[in-house]
Amino acid sequence: MIAAVLILSDKGAAGEREDLSGPALMQWLTTKGVKTARYQIIPDDFTTIATVLTQWTDEACCDVLITCGGTGVSPRDVTPEATLSIIDRSLPGFGEAMRAASLKITPMAVLSRAMAGIRKNCLIINLPGSPKAAIENLESVWAAVAHGVEKIGGSTVDCAHIHH
Ligand code: MTE
Repeated sequence: MIAAVLILSDKGAAGEREDLSGPALMQWLTTKGVKTARYQIIPDDFTTIATVLTQWTDEACCDVLITCGGTGVSPRDVTPEATLSIIDRSLPGFGEAMRAASLKITPMAVLSRAMAGIRKNCLIINLPGSPKAAIENLESVWAAVAHGVEKIGGSTVDCAHIHH
């Protein structure tokens, strides 16, 4: 499985804040045997986000495209809207599962509007911006990612044979 990591942060993109979430995510992915093909930091701008998501998925650069940041309630938090604007199908279970798991860790979890969806053969997952939040959220849905990627790619493996 190949991943791509897209960080959404005005300050990170302007070089005013070091991005710690991208390296943390890529390191975490490495421990799962997943290579990160692309990593970029862009501002919290709807059109820029939608454009990069479209390019990366149209170029088939990865099986799973992880966005990080911009899921909250600040005026510039538009990642879920940008994601929704370019996906073919939404996967509401990812947001539901991430918030359910995260609520056991912090009541602030309700403030994340993270969603997930499919564009072409790529699974796109929004994560909140801090390294802690990003890893906690990704961990909570990871068990379903590999099987999801297989099925999105057209695998006819029988789901009944999967027992984890
Ligand atoms: N989920 C987990 N598991 N752990 C966290 O620390 N932080 C929350 C929430 N989800 C958090 C979390 C906070 S404080 C916010 S504001 C929202 O995610 C949105 O984060 P974002 O705007 O950086 O995307």
